[in-house]
Amino acid sequence: MKNILIAPSLLASDFGKVYESIELINKSDADWIHCDVMDGRFVPNISFGFPVLAAAKRVAKKPLDVHLMILEPENYLSDFKKAGADILTVHLEASPHLHRTVHAIRDLGMSPGVAINPHTSVDLLYEIIADIDLVCLMSVNPGFGGQKFIEHTYSKIDRLKNLIISRNSKAKIEIDGGVDFTNASKLVSSGADVLVAGNTVFAAVNPQEAIAKLKFSVANTITS
Ligand code: DX5
Ligand code: ZN
Repeated sequence: MKNILIAPSLLASDFGKVYESIELINKSDADWIHCDVMDGRFVPNISFGFPVLAAAKRVAKKPLDVHLMILEPENYLSDFKKAGADILTVHLEASPHLHRTVHAIRDLGMSPGVAINPHTSVDLLYEIIADIDLVCLMSVNPGFGGQKFIEHTYSKIDRLKNLIISRNSKAKIEIDGGVDFTNASKLVSSGADVLVAGNTVFAAVNPQEAIAKLKFSVANTITS
């Protein structure tokens, strides 16, 4: 059975309690810690940067899955490595020299990922899919937590899965935005490998229990 990874997103957590939030994730069934970096240019919001990532890294016992929603990500790759990123995902829409950027991420010792916006076709990943470890399919328009899941994502997972197989790629499919208890299982049966969850985890009365519930809800899902 495929192990489905759960990646709680720090964006929905209380930023006054970064250590507590990481400790909570450390003790939970979560697999990765999803960190959303926003620059106010690629997306209409600003979140956090290197100092917060470095603080998270000091206590994290799980990999930092860093999602860059910034223009010119290629200028900051070694800084993100220094801050503690394990997986570094850049947006296709923000990276004109994506091949060079992806290889630079790997050469720095991180796992390269590529994220695509809801309107971006998975076909645009054809030439890069064999070089990356992760595709982050945005299931909301990036910039904010707590948005409604876009249903069209299911058909993108399906086409992405076929592309991954046809290109002999090992890339995992990560779904980011609006993931909750009502869609987690269907996402996994459609082919998702990693589920990011912000509000579903941190707006819950008991975030640790919410993580366990998410992990459990997909544990017995038949995967493709
Ligand atoms: C959106 C971010 C997401 C966000 C998900 O731009 O990339 O990672 O934190 O939050 P929820 O799960 O609340 O939609
Ligand atoms: Zn994200």
